[in-house]
This record gives sequence, C-alpha cells and structure tokens, in this order.
Amino acid sequence: MDLHVDSRNTARYTLRPFRKRDAETLLEAVRHSMPDLYPFLPWATHGYNQVNATRFIRDATHAWREQRAFNFAIRDAEGAGPHLGNVFVLYVSKSSRTGEIGYWINSGNTSQGIATEVTARIVQVAFEELGLHRVVLRIAVGNRPSERVAEKLGFTREGVLREELEVHGTWLDHTAYSMLEREYVSAENDIAAFVEYQSKAI
Ligand SMILES: CC(C)(COP(=O)(O)OP(=O)(O)OC[C@H]1O[C@@H](n2cnc3c(N)ncnc32)[C@H](O)[C@@H]1OP(=O)(O)O)[C@@H](O)C(=O)NCCC(=O)NCCS
Repeated sequence: MDLHVDSRNTARYTLRPFRKRDAETLLEAVRHSMPDLYPFLPWATHGYNQVNATRFIRDATHAWREQRAFNFAIRDAEGAGPHLGNVFVLYVSKSSRTGEIGYWINSGNTSQGIATEVTARIVQVAFEELGLHRVVLRIAVGNRPSERVAEKLGFTREGVLREELEVHGTWLDHTAYSMLEREYVSAENDIAAFVEYQSKAI
C-alpha cells in the first residue's frame, strides 16, 4: 500500500511532504544552517540557491510519487512557522524491506530534542506503515549530536564504514546504526514516548 501524503504529528511538530511554495523557507533554513550542514552533507554548498531548493522539492515530490523515498518538512504543531528541518525515510531495498532514515535541523533550533522527536515518528512510519524489517542510520564519525539521536532512540551501533561518502573533497567514515523490526516491537513504548515528548531517557 502506498505511503499516504497526509501530515504526521508529534507532540510539538508537524511532518508533511514538501510543497512547491516551501522553496523560500527551505532556502532560508539551509542558508542559515550552512556552517553546520556543510561538513556532513555533499549537497550543502555555499552557492545553494533558489534553483537548488526548487529542484530538491521537485525531486522529493517525484520520489514520493514513485514510493522510493519520503521526505518530510518539519514545522511547528500547527504546521506553520519557519522551516525547522528535514527528515526522510527511503528504501535501500524493497525486497529486503530495508530502509534508511536521515535528518537535519535548522541551526537556530538545535539541542531542543527536535531530531530525536521527529526521527522517533519516522521510525514508527518505517516499521508500521512501510513494514520494514531493518532501518539504518549512517552518521559521520565525530558527529556527536547525531550519534546522540541514534543512541537515545535505541539504535544499535554496527561498525564503521570506511571513507563511505565524499563531502566537499574529503572522504568521511560513517558509523552504521540499525534497528530491526523485533527490536522496534520491544522498544515501541519508548519510541512513542519520544514522539509524545514524554521521555528524556538516557
Ligand atoms: C545532528 C542534528 C540533526 C541534531 O539535531 P537536534 O535537534 O539538535 O538533536 P536533539 O536535540 O534531538 O539531540 C541532540 C543531542 O546532541 C547533544 N549535543 C549537541 N551538541 C553537542 C556537542 N557539540 N557535543 C556533544 N553532544 C552535543 C545534545 O545535548 C543532545 O543530546 P542530549 O539529549 O543527550 O542532551 C543537528 O545538529 C544537525 O542537523 N546537524 C547538521 C546536519 C547533520 O549532521 N545531520 C545528520 C547527518 S547524519
């Protein structure tokens, strides 16, 4: 069954597919966050402009329509306000029911638990709506805030993928983290508590 395009909610945020008119607020957020995005994300370049933002939204919309990748814009609980960041889940392999989750948060809003809360919601989407068996996070070695997100949500650290991604001329090692379907079932209540912003665990 296709992943529906309605919003998903958490206690404090709305996650919804991108719309064409998000280009301006997305661009604003990317530009503001560039010093934090640049070291880790190949697409984050100092020349990032309206064309890049528009193309991203077009590609994200296309990928959703084809049921390959599902990019969500993060907004406040009313679905309004500035662009708070992106979170996505994509199929690594449909036949093996494996997916990957990724995220970035607007630099003006970090360390408020946003990444943890919205990623918890996307973990629910991954296992409950997409029916995945295995979900991975790939985190650049040394990206401590992102490692904390994986740890807080109970992902298991698998090991280091050497020189896995070239970012602006530097090859970065990544740590692979994963969660399996049965682990999600055991941790379901903890994940839900993050979605409801009830847990400050670990
Ligand atoms: C990584 C990122 C998504 C985290 O988003 P966030 O909304 O701030 O995450 P949360 O608030 O849910 O959790 C962040 C954790 O990192 C901790 N943290 C923040 N800065 C830190 C630092 N410099 N050193 C160690 N820990 C740090 C926070 O204290 C928090 O942990 P805690 O709850 O145990 O206190 C955000 O910083 C970001 O977008 N960075 C740039 C892009 C990026 O790295 N994307 C991820 C690629 S895998």
